[in-house]
Amino acid sequence: MIDKYYLTTAIDYVNGAPHIGHAYEKILTDIIARHYSLRTDNMFFLTGTDEHGIKIQKTAASSGKTPKQLCDENSQKFKDAWKALDVNYNRFIRTTDQDHEKIVQKIFQKLKDKGDIYKHEYEGWYCQGCECFLNPKDLTEDGLCPDHLKKPDIVKEENYFFKLTAYKDRIIEHIKTHPDFIVPSFRANEVLNQLEDIQDISVSRSKENVGWGIDILDDPEQSIYVWIDALSNYITAIGYDPDNSTEQFKNLWPCDVHVIGKDILKFHSIYWPAILMALDLPLPKHIFAHGWITIDETKMSKSLGNVVSPTSVLETFELPNADAFRYYMATSAPCGRDGNYSDQDFKEKVNAHLANSMGNLLNRSLSMLVKYFDGEVKSEFIENRSAEAQSLLRTALGKIKTVENHFNHFEIQEAAQEIISIVDDTNKFVTDNAPWTLAKEEKMTECGAVLVTVLEIMCIVSSLIYPYCPNIASDMASQLKYNINTKYDDIKTDNIKTGKLISKEEIHPVFLRVDSELADKSKPVKV
Ligand code: MSP
Repeated sequence: MIDKYYLTTAIDYVNGAPHIGHAYEKILTDIIARHYSLRTDNMFFLTGTDEHGIKIQKTAASSGKTPKQLCDENSQKFKDAWKALDVNYNRFIRTTDQDHEKIVQKIFQKLKDKGDIYKHEYEGWYCQGCECFLNPKDLTEDGLCPDHLKKPDIVKEENYFFKLTAYKDRIIEHIKTHPDFIVPSFRANEVLNQLEDIQDISVSRSKENVGWGIDILDDPEQSIYVWIDALSNYITAIGYDPDNSTEQFKNLWPCDVHVIGKDILKFHSIYWPAILMALDLPLPKHIFAHGWITIDETKMSKSLGNVVSPTSVLETFELPNADAFRYYMATSAPCGRDGNYSDQDFKEKVNAHLANSMGNLLNRSLSMLVKYFDGEVKSEFIENRSAEAQSLLRTALGKIKTVENHFNHFEIQEAAQEIISIVDDTNKFVTDNAPWTLAKEEKMTECGAVLVTVLEIMCIVSSLIYPYCPNIASDMASQLKYNINTKYDDIKTDNIKTGKLISKEEIHPVFLRVDSELADKSKPVKV
């Protein structure tokens, strides 16, 4: 068992509704959280919304709302979406929460008192999309922000600056001596290159230009600018206080992983470590930068009108719960690479993996147990496993460690492939051993031994697939009379007990194929 596991997502801007890209990250993180909930009793999963800044202020103004109204409405949309997707966080922090705002002010003050924050007049290229000043050398040839392809504004202000440069060498050293700090490791070089020419960063804006921000305690003309506010959520949410942190904070910090998109890696692997060093706090163990999701291989954008709402996928395919969508999203890309969503691919993949391979295997094994043995498991079935059955069962049990190891490296797709490979091998075992033929030949003990081996393996499969598909897994476990909350360390190969396991009426498919005709009727609703 692991002592504790604390993980976070990026907090989303609330100037729009959640889309499938936001959902991808929250689903990945929820899957990691649920996986670790079976490895520790002390898991904490934080998500939330990032609510201050010029973008929110402008969107609110253009829609005739106050920033607070816009934030309230939109943060609720994120909460609703995560509920529909079974994203089961422990806290949803909003950067407008009073406890957060109060501690951010204290953090700012502490850094100012230490001399890590100083006032300075500055003129630079400010990108509203990134909510930061850009280095002129990073602009495109046409002078645009490379991420948002928009011309940054020239902003001249007297702002507070954070002495990022003072921490440069320590950050470089940390990245070099902790090869698993940045995941995937191929992104570490990008960060080291960015570190080459970092400068001190602006951490406040004049209230005149950006009114929607947290006030600086002893300087009412300035408000705390987005990144110190946003990044601090990871510590304020669990009770950090520069004067007196809570027991919960002492128990959970340092964070085990910040799950974020590749576009905000710089902020998390350079700015955030520097802020933490300035606060004398240990650094998070891992920063996991996932790739981006495209729609039908095209970048999502409001102007292309291809922004897909995650809940519309559930509605279009009339899915009873989010499991299939979660499974599809989580397996859409190898660790850290970009993935894609397409209706066609979604249907094909979930039908093949969840209905045909996994669901069907359980369903037909239970049906045969009822047909040949009235749903009863006899002790001789367990005692007379063939060498092949024993080896298959041992291999399935061994896969728990393999899957855990993938999760240790945030290889969520790769872990799912291992789980499906157990299912494929077990399907092959059923085909090769043909329990229906054994029954016809009246080799009932052998027939029962094959079926009970499969059911035993399905207990392991339900535990392993649970983080991806919590509803399907719980349904599998209930038909198997297996405790889905069993910790991975405690899983053995004696879950199927002798006696009546199931009756005909109790057997039902755990996942119905996504109907291709229905699915073709309408395209997902755009947001
Ligand atoms: N508010 C900042 C994060 C602050 S974290 C202290 C922000 N917000 S965001 O709404 O723009 O993005 C939130 C997360 O969603 C980021 O991790 C981002 O990478 C991710 N994604 C946004 N669009 C995405 C895709 N198309 N695909 C996958 N993830 C994407 O950045």
